Amino acid sequence: MVNEQDSTEPAFEQLVGQLDYPMFVVTTRASDRLSGCLVGFASQASINPSRFFVGLSKKNHTFGVAQDAEYLAVHVLAREHVDLARFFGSETGDEIDKFQQCQWHEGPHGLPILDDAAAWFVGRIVRRIDAGDHLGVLMEPFDGATTPAAAEELVSFSDVKDLEPGHDA
Ligand SMILES: Cc1cc2nc3c(=O)[nH]c(=O)nc-3n(C[C@H](O)[C@H](O)[C@H](O)COP(=O)(O)O)c2cc1C
Repeated sequence: MVNEQDSTEPAFEQLVGQLDYPMFVVTTRASDRLSGCLVGFASQASINPSRFFVGLSKKNHTFGVAQDAEYLAVHVLAREHVDLARFFGSETGDEIDKFQQCQWHEGPHGLPILDDAAAWFVGRIVRRIDAGDHLGVLMEPFDGATTPAAAEELVSFSDVKDLEPGHDA
């Protein structure tokens, strides 16, 4: 006999594996510690007030720094910079300093802003939610910039789904 609850799980996993959602590089800073990783679990969560949700894996270096951080920066990348997205998704700050191997500058509150981003915004962390193996971080966006490249094809899940993540989820 098929257990109803079990039978819904593969359908859900199948569905989310088929969706082609946008990918983001999320960076953060806690005093002089910088971190950042590739993120697919992210979405606008409210219009008024403006809110954006980010899911950070508890195993990631970025999670550890975000625990002590007040702000996050969220970047989208044009497909021509897919290698940068892949770098942030396949390397871990536990082993290398990613910010020595990419171009960035300090943005609001000293947050690392990637020079090659097509667009980015920063937000204050207003709530942390234990979401299971990920931490849900709710942000209040307050600053950012966009370029004409943001109208180009942006990096999405299908561009990076073959990656071996720097950390297992
Ligand atoms: C397709 C894909 C989606 C990912 N989505 C997330 C995500 O939503 N949240 C997250 O914390 N890590 C996600 N990761 C994993 C991290 O980007 C990856 O483990 C990274 O190397 C962690 O870096 P860090 O340890 O320096 O934080 C994803 C990786 C891939 C390949």
